[in-house]
Amino acid sequence: MKFFVDTADVAEIKDLAATGMVDGVTTNPSIIAKSGRDFAEVIKEICGIVEGPVSAEVTATDVKGMIKEGEKLAKIAENVCIKVPLTWDGLKACKHFTSNGTQVNVTLCFSAAQALLAAKAGATFISPFVGRLDDIGQDGMQLIDDIVTMYSQYDHFETEVLVASIRNPVHVVDAAMMGAHVATLPPAVLRSLISHPLTDKGLAAFLADWEKSGQKKIA
Ligand code: G3P
Repeated sequence: MKFFVDTADVAEIKDLAATGMVDGVTTNPSIIAKSGRDFAEVIKEICGIVEGPVSAEVTATDVKGMIKEGEKLAKIAENVCIKVPLTWDGLKACKHFTSNGTQVNVTLCFSAAQALLAAKAGATFISPFVGRLDDIGQDGMQLIDDIVTMYSQYDHFETEVLVASIRNPVHVVDAAMMGAHVATLPPAVLRSLISHPLTDKGLAAFLADWEKSGQKKIA
């Protein structure tokens, strides 16, 4: 499973990239607004930190505007992945970009029917938002299972399932168990994956017993 980091906070991206666990980055207009940074500048900086796909979302809602914006975004760096919403205009723009070899992440997916359309449009990634479905009492992870199962029926579908709107480590593990290709994680969720109290307790006990042994460290 690939891990993307869902943020435009460059300090967080640098820190987490140093763990070797970051395969890409996703942003959206809300994340860019929260960063307080110039859109093109922060995307360029992120593309220089992470080699993998960096999703940058268009804000136009018409296909002509999406293509115009997307072409500018694609020029920022080789690893820019154009993000478009799951609308008819977004799917038309997706087809335009992927047929020209530019990666596209189709976002704001909330149903298997939408995911089917995105795969037919040649999307590189589909971003189903599990947390937002859970937030309204629906089963976000069931959507992931449905999309992975649906896509696996067709060899010619190359769209990768990029699980988004992740709220906790259980979402990540469940998505991996289902065979989702990518999870895009808020920095705090990525950090929390490593935490377990028994690991901390066990290491402390090992080190305490080593101290008691009176032996010197090997190096
Ligand atoms: O990548 C999509 C993600 O940023 C949405 O997450 O928490 O706003 O539902 P959230």
